[in-house]
Amino acid sequence: QDRRSFYGAHQSGVVTPQPAAALLASFDVLADSRDDLASLMQRLTARTAALMAGELPRPVNDGLPPPDNGILGPAGMTDGLSMTVGFGASMFDARFGLAAQRPKRLVAMAAFPNDALDADCCHGDLLIQFNANTAETNIHALRAVLKEFPADLALRWKQDGFLPPHTVKTQGRDTARNLLGFKDGTANLDAADGALMDRIVWVGEGSDEPGWARGGSYQVVRIIRTLVERWDRTPLREQQTIIGRDKAEGAPLGLRGEHDIPDYAADPRGLGVPLDAHIRRANPRTAATADSVILRRAYNYSNGLTKAGQLDMGLLFSSFQADLDRGFVAVQTRLNGEALEEYIKPVGGGYFFTLPGVEGPRDHFAKALL
Ligand code: HEM
Repeated sequence: QDRRSFYGAHQSGVVTPQPAAALLASFDVLADSRDDLASLMQRLTARTAALMAGELPRPVNDGLPPPDNGILGPAGMTDGLSMTVGFGASMFDARFGLAAQRPKRLVAMAAFPNDALDADCCHGDLLIQFNANTAETNIHALRAVLKEFPADLALRWKQDGFLPPHTVKTQGRDTARNLLGFKDGTANLDAADGALMDRIVWVGEGSDEPGWARGGSYQVVRIIRTLVERWDRTPLREQQTIIGRDKAEGAPLGLRGEHDIPDYAADPRGLGVPLDAHIRRANPRTAATADSVILRRAYNYSNGLTKAGQLDMGLLFSSFQADLDRGFVAVQTRLNGEALEEYIKPVGGGYFFTLPGVEGPRDHFAKALL
């Protein structure tokens, strides 16, 4: 219950284990000068450090609104909370004079061919990713932020997500399933492999990015509706060839074990895993695409009904990568036209740059930028 988990070269919530509940909140920044922005980032840093340490604002005076919303009780708790802060491309427009410091690949997310983006849940100046063991802890933290910064931050969109708690409890030994019923995360990169994360996820010393960005990462958020009524009426064999894996075990088609590695070079015609299967398009496992990989951090979501009376649910997809173009954009471009498109509709999200970590009490978010 202290601030140690907050300070470091990188923010939490990227390579740290995924707890069961997520809340992504995107904000418009209302501050209109660089000084106001620097002050906001200082105060947001202090609030984030306190929330992650489970500290509540005091004193309590019953003649005033309570300093804390009380959702977690009077003693507070950490409950595995991490808050991860990123900037959208719009932070580098004319308002703050930061254009020359924009991370080189950070642009507003453009629509891919199968997208039906809804402007009400896209983009934003500042993203906070809340992750915790329970939804209440994320809501507690979001409301604490909204209450403290009414003049600086306006909520633009938010999306909650969840993972099956029984698989989260096994600390990654069991793979969580998405709402299509398939194991999701089997072939994900190993976030505990520091050297791999330095190469694929974190902007490092040798990169061509501006100096202030070292230790950060590009975060892609995609709110992807899955057309589950249609999926649930699709034959099992077709579901499996669309993904490229067996539904029960999660093994690549033609192999036995979930973690067996497909050998596409030995199967050029796609007799085991079809050429347009999701996993084969996403990662063809060739020498040329060896670096075109991403760290995924997805959650399931469920939002009620669409106007047409269908279930509004799907995948709250996130990926982290040091190079947005070689990572997500290249992977998604390979996926364009995949067989799964008949069952999914990306509706929202955006590209953000996850700020480098806060090194200690004298540092704050984006200090080297501001
Ligand atoms: C793998 C589902 C969207 C990239 C998988 C797997 C499933 C799956 C079931 C196999 C298990 C695993 O390795 O995790 C879905 C669903 C999606 C979706 C239902 C949308 C609703 C995306 C998007 C991307 C992506 C948008 C990136 C642009 C990948 C990658 C793999 C993968 C890189 C691992 C491939 C490998 O290394 O073998 N996905 N996915 N997925 N997916 Fe997706």
